[in-house]
Amino acid sequence: MKAVDGVSFEVRRGEVLGLVGESGCGKTTTGRALLRIVEPTAGTIQFRQSDGREVDVVAADNAELKRLRCDMRMVFRDPNASLNPRLPVGEIIGQSLEYNGVAKAETDERVATLLRRVGLRPEYIKRYPHAFSGGERQRIGIARALALNPAFVVCDEAVSALDVSVQAQILRLLRRTQARVQSDLPVRRP
Ligand SMILES: Nc1ncnc2c1ncn2[C@@H]1O[C@H](COP(=O)(O)OP(=O)(O)OP(=O)(O)O)[C@@H](O)[C@H]1O
Ligand SMILES: [Mg+2]
Repeated sequence: MKAVDGVSFEVRRGEVLGLVGESGCGKTTTGRALLRIVEPTAGTIQFRQSDGREVDVVAADNAELKRLRCDMRMVFRDPNASLNPRLPVGEIIGQSLEYNGVAKAETDERVATLLRRVGLRPEYIKRYPHAFSGGERQRIGIARALALNPAFVVCDEAVSALDVSVQAQILRLLRRTQARVQSDLPVRRP
C-alpha cells in the first residue's frame, strides 16, 4: 500500500509550514520520512545543514544520519507513547546530549535550562513521566526535541491531545523558542 504519494514542498529557514489533510492521507508518514524514522521507498529529501552543506537525507549513511538527527528533530503526537516511562525526565531530555558526547555536568545544566524554558521547574529533573500532566508531558517532549538546538522540528499534532488553554500555551512556547533557539548557546556536535 502507499502510505503517502505525490507530496512535494519546501520549507525555508525560519519558516513554519503546516501540513493539512484528512485523516490517513499521510501527514505523519511524511513527517517521519523526513527524519528517516520510516524509510521512504521513493523520492528525494534535501536538507541544508547548519554548516550550509546540502544533504540528501534519503541517501544518508548512518554517520550522516546521526549528524542529521541533531539538526532535525520530532515532537510526537502522543507523549504517553513517546516518553520512556522508566526514565526520569532528566535522562529523557538529556539522552541526545550524552549520546553526542556532552559531559554529564554540562548535560544536567542544559536540561535544567530546557525545563525552565518549557515552563517546568528544574527540580523536576528526577521525576518520571507518570508524575506529570498531559500538557507537561508534551512540554517534556518539546524540551527533548530542542535539546541539541535543531534547525528543523517536525511537530506531529503536537497539541491536538491537549485542552485549548494548554494548546495556546504550547504554541506560544514553540513560537518563542523558534525565535530564541537561533541565538542560543551552541551545542557541541559530532
Ligand atoms: N506502519 C504502517 N503500516 C501500514 N500502513 C500504515 C502504517 N502507518 C501508516 N499507515 C497507513 O498509511 C496511511 C497514512 O497514515 P498517516 O499516519 O501518515 O496518516 P495521517 O495523515 O497522519 O493521519 P491522521 O490525521 O489520522 O494522523 C494510512 O492509510 C495508514 O493506515
Ligand atoms: Mg497523523
